[in-house]
Amino acid sequence: MSEHFVVQGLAAGRGLKGTIPVRGAKNAALKELAAGLLFRDEVRFTNMPVIEDVSRLIGLLRRMGVLIEGRRTVRMRTPRRMTTELPPDEAERLRASVVLTGPILARWGSVTFPHPGGCLIGARPVDLFLEGFQKMGARIREKNGGYEITAPGGALKGANIFFRTQSVTGTETLMMAAVLARGTTVLENAALEPEIASLAAFLNACGADIRGAGTPTVTVKGGRLLSARGAVWRTPPDRIETGSFLILGALAGDDILITRCNPAECKAVIAVLERAGVPLETSRRTIRIRRAKRYRAVDIKTHEYPGFPTDLQALMAVFLSQAEGEALVFETIFEGRLRYVDELVKMGASLNVCDPHRIIVRGPTRLAGAELESPDLRAGLAYLIAALVADGESVIHTVYNIDRGYERIEERLRKVGADIQRVKE
Ligand code: EPZ
Repeated sequence: MSEHFVVQGLAAGRGLKGTIPVRGAKNAALKELAAGLLFRDEVRFTNMPVIEDVSRLIGLLRRMGVLIEGRRTVRMRTPRRMTTELPPDEAERLRASVVLTGPILARWGSVTFPHPGGCLIGARPVDLFLEGFQKMGARIREKNGGYEITAPGGALKGANIFFRTQSVTGTETLMMAAVLARGTTVLENAALEPEIASLAAFLNACGADIRGAGTPTVTVKGGRLLSARGAVWRTPPDRIETGSFLILGALAGDDILITRCNPAECKAVIAVLERAGVPLETSRRTIRIRRAKRYRAVDIKTHEYPGFPTDLQALMAVFLSQAEGEALVFETIFEGRLRYVDELVKMGASLNVCDPHRIIVRGPTRLAGAELESPDLRAGLAYLIAALVADGESVIHTVYNIDRGYERIEERLRKVGADIQRVKE
């Protein structure tokens, strides 16, 4: 059963008002669930976002034999024995399932998984994962379009691994594998995303020995299975959701207060928006936006953390369509993340694709409501913002793509005055 959103553009002059609470970070929660496989006892998480990607990963783990219950607060217990084969049909549809391979291989000495489906933002290779496992002593066999990986003697060994390109899930997966490897592992040119330091802090609180997470060099001393010792881990706030609401507020917010967020992890998007003339007031856990009448165009270039996040690139293109002047949007991380452009042009935006990584945006342009198909999670939210800024009504299909990463988004935005209806097709 598919659903679509029917969105009414905000009438001229009418803006959103009120508070938008930020949920737990999708890209932290998914890895916390993977890390739960490293425990010999029950582990509990709170502040989990109630979103499709988390539900799907929980469903996949349950199918493999893991005992998991709850949604906002999740309790997880891994059996001593379980299948080490990721169900191909589910794993192919959830790229993030690849992070399970590290803990499974490290704990049980084998893992079988399909090549995680590429998605609409790029090929999404896994060569860095495979090379890392090989460096840790594992043997890899290609089988039915997937991989069968085994560790001789059932155990990985510590290794020195240099990432030729920074990879968020590559860093997280090999860091988790190293927790149970025999000896010390050093990850160099590791990704710096805050979710990595958060994951390491959680694991260290439960008996792991990980140093340098959040810096380019992470050192892991392998040891035994972890124990939560009854502790409950709180999923940190979602910095991409925070940035999404910042951009929404800048364009449509008369007075929006974003709460339960961590502005210190959003410096790049805050710096770009302030450069464009967006008035922001930040405190330790909140950001207030009262939109201005005019904005300056600002070039953006996506970059690994702490640079401008690729996940906010499409949303920023919508913002720039309403700013005065011409701006270059340069997507450096993924080769397929400009697919949203045609639909925005259909609404009236002036976007010119220069090459698979660059577009020129000219603004300000009036947008008209249209019928839209969200290609991926973040483009879906970009369309929602564009629809609220546009004149007239828009329909956004495949709402599932938005539900993958944004919890009950229409309810939270209706609370601040947006007219969004979820319609079952
Ligand atoms: C994570 O994806 C996030 N997903 C993405 O968020 C995010 O866009 C991305 O990091 C970059 O910040 C999760 O954490 C679940 P990468 P990930 O490995 O880890 C290349 C969202 O919307 N690469 O850091 O898959 C890759 O092709 C999602 O929440 C290899 O070449 O991204 C890309 O060009 C979308 N070989 C670059 O590295 C590999 O083995 C960075 O990708 C792995 C990656």
